[in-house]
Amino acid sequence: MNYKIAVLAGDGIGPEICAGATKVLEKIGIKFGHSFEFEHLPIGGVAIDNYGTPLPDFTVEKCLKADSVLLGAVGGYKWDKLPGDKRPEKGLLGIRKAMGLYSNIRPAKLWKQLADASPLKHELVKDGIEIIIVRELIGGIYFGERGRGKENGAEFAWDTEKYSVPEIERITRIACELALKRSKKLVSVDKANVLESSRLWRKTVHEYAAKHYPEVEVTDVLVDNMAMQIVKNPAQFDVVVTSNIFGDILSDEAAQVTGSIGMLASSSLGDTTCGLYEPIHGSAPDIAGQDIANPIATILAAAMMLRDSFGLTAEYDAVINAIERTLEQGWRTADIYSEGCKKVGCKQMAKLVCDNI
Ligand code: IPM
Ligand code: MN
Repeated sequence: MNYKIAVLAGDGIGPEICAGATKVLEKIGIKFGHSFEFEHLPIGGVAIDNYGTPLPDFTVEKCLKADSVLLGAVGGYKWDKLPGDKRPEKGLLGIRKAMGLYSNIRPAKLWKQLADASPLKHELVKDGIEIIIVRELIGGIYFGERGRGKENGAEFAWDTEKYSVPEIERITRIACELALKRSKKLVSVDKANVLESSRLWRKTVHEYAAKHYPEVEVTDVLVDNMAMQIVKNPAQFDVVVTSNIFGDILSDEAAQVTGSIGMLASSSLGDTTCGLYEPIHGSAPDIAGQDIANPIATILAAAMMLRDSFGLTAEYDAVINAIERTLEQGWRTADIYSEGCKKVGCKQMAKLVCDNI
């Protein structure tokens, strides 16, 4: 098979980590007899610099025509002073919206080879952690009305968190499907003790799950408590469903608990198989261009694409096994380095994973 992949490398370490991931895909292609065609397209700061917008129309058009999309990261100091709708991040939000990618799956898993990298005590992580956060991605406060004004001489600004029943139902369906394949336990995170949108969220999740997925047991956890539970006892969680902003925050926290945010990828899907796959970390402008970034999250994102967009499960497994083997051999990028291991850069790490496929 020939697969057309749009590559949105973006800013900061984006180009380095995407190069690592496309190398791995090429190796998979050779090994399993597929060909991958990569089309590089601008997004974020680099698109602002060259086209005056963080998301040129042709980037959107070509992504919609591709079989799937791989994304590096967007943003950097250079564009930090721009107004909200002209920032690099707007490009990422825009492509998610344009592709209708309402479901963002962020698995935070503890790699047994990296258990020492977790900031938590050994007894809390010794049995492993795998929290899969299902984040609603194109609704809520990220896309609600916002504005600025002046009241009694004082400047003010506002954003709105708004969710409709169909928006909540479709993300609940994704989370329930996932829970069915796993522990059949689903945790829904909200702030229903304060927010009206959360009260509708909670009611809808329960009604929808009870009607369509009676086997799935749904428990509610308030977001502040969830933030605490993730560091207190992360092993208690399996599949978690939540809103856009809570998912953004909790997925970083869950990632850190597993040791390094440089090891975690995410998939974003809507109603088609054309999805967007990206590392959950950002553009890390402080280390850009130094060949020290960890490419594994982006390699994992590419693996998720193989499985979730193309249905290539053996190929997915081959990538995961190669990453595990590379870690077992003691190779580490700086972010996951510990004494006694062998430190390598971004390029070399990607090459080692290729060699282990
Ligand atoms: C993420 C990022 C983005 C988000 C930013 C860069 C817009 O933090 O993917 O988690 O908030 O969704
Ligand atoms: Mn984030």
